[in-house]
Amino acid sequence: MQKARIYVANWKMNMHLDSGLQFANDCKALMNDNENTEKQGSPFSQNGAKKHIILCPTFPAIYPIAQLLQNVPISIGAQNCSEHEIGAYTGEVSAQSLSEIGCSYCIIGHSERRKYFHETNEVIARKVVKLFASTINPIICIGETAQDHKDNKTLEVLEHQLNPIIKAINEAEQFPETVIFAYEPVWAIGTGKTPNNETLHATFNWLAAHLTRNIKNIKVIYLLYGGSVDEHTALEMVKVQNIDGFLIGGASLDFQKFKNIVSLA
Ligand code: PGA
Repeated sequence: MQKARIYVANWKMNMHLDSGLQFANDCKALMNDNENTEKQGSPFSQNGAKKHIILCPTFPAIYPIAQLLQNVPISIGAQNCSEHEIGAYTGEVSAQSLSEIGCSYCIIGHSERRKYFHETNEVIARKVVKLFASTINPIICIGETAQDHKDNKTLEVLEHQLNPIIKAINEAEQFPETVIFAYEPVWAIGTGKTPNNETLHATFNWLAAHLTRNIKNIKVIYLLYGGSVDEHTALEMVKVQNIDGFLIGGASLDFQKFKNIVSLA
């Protein structure tokens, strides 16, 4: 199976409803143009490989954007969900509720959630299981801090973050056919700094081997890179073996920049 290349727009707590709808409308127009130009070779299918866009708005914008994009091959994701199924958890949103409003993906364990909301690897593992049960594909974020990076502990940290998540995936009663991991070095998020291709090559090779060896039930694993992705960095990083796409923060707030990344990289 040839993998699609994945582009996730993580809008974080940015984009109000009107700008989110405008962005989604622009994506829709791009998809329509793409259909018309498919035969001449289009930015959305290079050398037969499809490109898959996943927009991740704030919770209130999910439903209207999902409605707007009905019948358009663009997916909608959330940026978080509850580790609980249902009940008295004021302010939380369950995986089931997300599924009902048109979400098919959900970012989990983003470093901002880990840092500001104290999410642990165990909490993230429970969220993965809840998402699986609601047929939502998690986009599981992992990554080392600047200090870990300086201490040369990247792989050690990644392995530690992954342990409970892999265990939960292997023990899940329900699971999808594919699972997505996003490697986001914390020091690269929003800083303009990125690892060089040599470092990325080593990290992604390790990730691919580690996940394939240890995840028993899901055979297709996608690996994304996130952290200061723009049209220039993406064009370089796309050369790295085992990078299947990008998780894009800042550059996903501007349609033209996002379009350039999707078209070029
Ligand atoms: P950035 O954010 O592209 O602005 O660095 C990426 C992310 O936090 O997912």
